Amino acid sequence: MKIYIDSSDIKEIKNINKTNMVDGITTNPSLIAKQNKNIKLILKEICQEVKGPVSAEVAAISIDDMIKEARILKRIAKNIVIKLPLTFDGLNACSILSRKGYQTNVTLCFSASQALLAAKAGATFISPFIGRLDDIGENGSQLIFDIKKMFDNYKEIKTKILAASIRSAEHFCEVAKAGADIATIPPKLFHNLYKHDLTDKGLKAFLDDWQNTNQKIE
Ligand code: G3P
Repeated sequence: MKIYIDSSDIKEIKNINKTNMVDGITTNPSLIAKQNKNIKLILKEICQEVKGPVSAEVAAISIDDMIKEARILKRIAKNIVIKLPLTFDGLNACSILSRKGYQTNVTLCFSASQALLAAKAGATFISPFIGRLDDIGENGSQLIFDIKKMFDNYKEIKTKILAASIRSAEHFCEVAKAGADIATIPPKLFHNLYKHDLTDKGLKAFLDDWQNTNQKIE
């Protein structure tokens, strides 16, 4: 499973990208708003740092305006992916842009039928929101499983499942088990994924024992 970082914070992105484990970035209007900076500048900096796909979301809701914004966003860098909401106009825009060769990410997906329509519209990525489904008492990871099963029935579907709204290590592992192609995770969660109390405890014991040897590796 590929890992994307769900953030517009260039400092956080650069820090995690040192590991070479970042396959792409996703942003949304709420994440951009947190930076208090021009959207084009934010995306340009991110695209210079990360060579994989960088999702940039349109803020328009009508098809013509979405297409206009997509053209502007696409000019920022080669690796920009146009993120569109899962509405009638969004699907329509996805269909037009995909046929023009744009990479697209259809977002705010909460059902399997929505995912199938996005695939039909030629979306490069579909973004089902796991945590927000759990918030309303549904099982977000089950949705990934259902979409994967459905897409596997049709070999012509090339749309990648990009699990979003991932809030915990459990979510991360559940979507991997369900067959998501990508999980997009906030920076804070990335740092939680490698931590374990027994790792810290074990390391401390090893280092204490090592000190008693009075040796140096040189
Ligand atoms: O990028 C969209 C998604 O990951 C948002 O997550 O936690 O706000 O539901 P969340």
